[in-house]
Amino acid sequence: MNILVIGSGGREHALCWRLKQSASCKAVHCAPGNPGIESVATCHAVSVDDINGLVALAQKLGVDLVVVGPEAPLVAGVADAMRAAGIATFGPSKAAAQLEGSKAFLKDFFARHKLPTAAYKTFTDADAAYAYIDAMGAPIVVKTSGLAAGKGVTVAMTTGEAKEAAREMLSGALFGDAGRTIVIEEFLEGEEISYFAICSGTDFLPLGSAQDHKRVGDGDTGPNTGGMGAYSPARLMTPALEKLVNETIIQPTLDGMAAEGNPFHGVLFAGLMMTKQGPKLLEYNVRFGDPECQTLMMRLTGDFAAVLMAAAKGQLADAKKDFSMKDTHSVCVVMAATGYPGAYKKGTVIRGLEQANTDGAIVFHAGTKRSADGHIVADGGRVLGVSAVAGDVKTARAVAYAAVDRVEWPEGFCRRDIGWRVA
Ligand code: AMP
Ligand code: GLY
Repeated sequence: MNILVIGSGGREHALCWRLKQSASCKAVHCAPGNPGIESVATCHAVSVDDINGLVALAQKLGVDLVVVGPEAPLVAGVADAMRAAGIATFGPSKAAAQLEGSKAFLKDFFARHKLPTAAYKTFTDADAAYAYIDAMGAPIVVKTSGLAAGKGVTVAMTTGEAKEAAREMLSGALFGDAGRTIVIEEFLEGEEISYFAICSGTDFLPLGSAQDHKRVGDGDTGPNTGGMGAYSPARLMTPALEKLVNETIIQPTLDGMAAEGNPFHGVLFAGLMMTKQGPKLLEYNVRFGDPECQTLMMRLTGDFAAVLMAAAKGQLADAKKDFSMKDTHSVCVVMAATGYPGAYKKGTVIRGLEQANTDGAIVFHAGTKRSADGHIVADGGRVLGVSAVAGDVKTARAVAYAAVDRVEWPEGFCRRDIGWRVA
């Protein structure tokens, strides 16, 4: 089959790379893609927010399957538009994408179905929010209901900080309409795990776990980022815990969504907090994580394209037998532009990518472009995802960091401790 992947980051590079190796995949196209993706797919200059343009592209190419990478086009309804045009699509409908697109929707859904998550209340009025914050005390968590590019969450250690965050969100100054409704919730203590399931209505295929490193600095210090690296599987995940998560969170979510008329087709990415009372849901994303996706794609075997097609068509049961996650460990080290997540320079030249892409390491491009004179240059905050897979984390980490050291990019940096929680 011919496949169109929508997106341009490291996640999409990893998806294209894995799809291209699938027995049932003839060609991969990507919109808009990036210079790294060009090595495995044909890239087309259509932006992820141009839904009509994307449908027209899929029709022109005659693709058999569309795979949507980022959340924004899903929340905007790209999967509905593709399906309306008769194109099989891996990605949830606009209605089902509310699990990520609206925290108020997610929390109310969890309350209706009595699923494990932090206690919460939703607000549009500042005075009512302040009163709730005072009544609950700190630490407490304040979130924009709408999408805020990963920046809409404040974990406040004091009630003053929580009120300030609530005020800023509700005023619309920082997050626009995404913040005019906020969710204030109980602070949960524990270690976080990312968990992934390929879903097709009420059926699903567990894909496994990963752990992200959100802080910019070694030892989990400094400001939050989109993710400075990840490893898979997460050290805390056990078969028993996976069963518990599937039974108490994933399956009831799919059953509830289907019962309410919003069946979910796509990947469900659960951000879980492992609390003393068991796993609780922090958030859902309706797409793969970035850089978690890179670590998952390194470990997959079998015909991944066939699995995604089966999920898109509601025939997941048939595809499950051809699929497996290897008993391996993978690591992805993100190389970012100096200054990230604050201000950083674009356009700096990156060399050594060919040498880096050897000895078992793969360099996924996240924020790169080709300059007029043919160089690969940095074009974003998170720029590369240097990835490796091995029998244990230690080896995977050594292979990934050896590749990082072959990249010649003085204006870039990375954390040196990805996977540190695993001894
Ligand atoms: P979210 O986008 O909801 O995953 O929130 C971003 C980050 O904020 C999470 O990865 C957690 O580290 C933290 N966080 C969110 N909700 C809570 C909570 N209820 N308790 C503690 N930390 C949280
Ligand atoms: N790495 C976290 C995310 O993709 O949301």
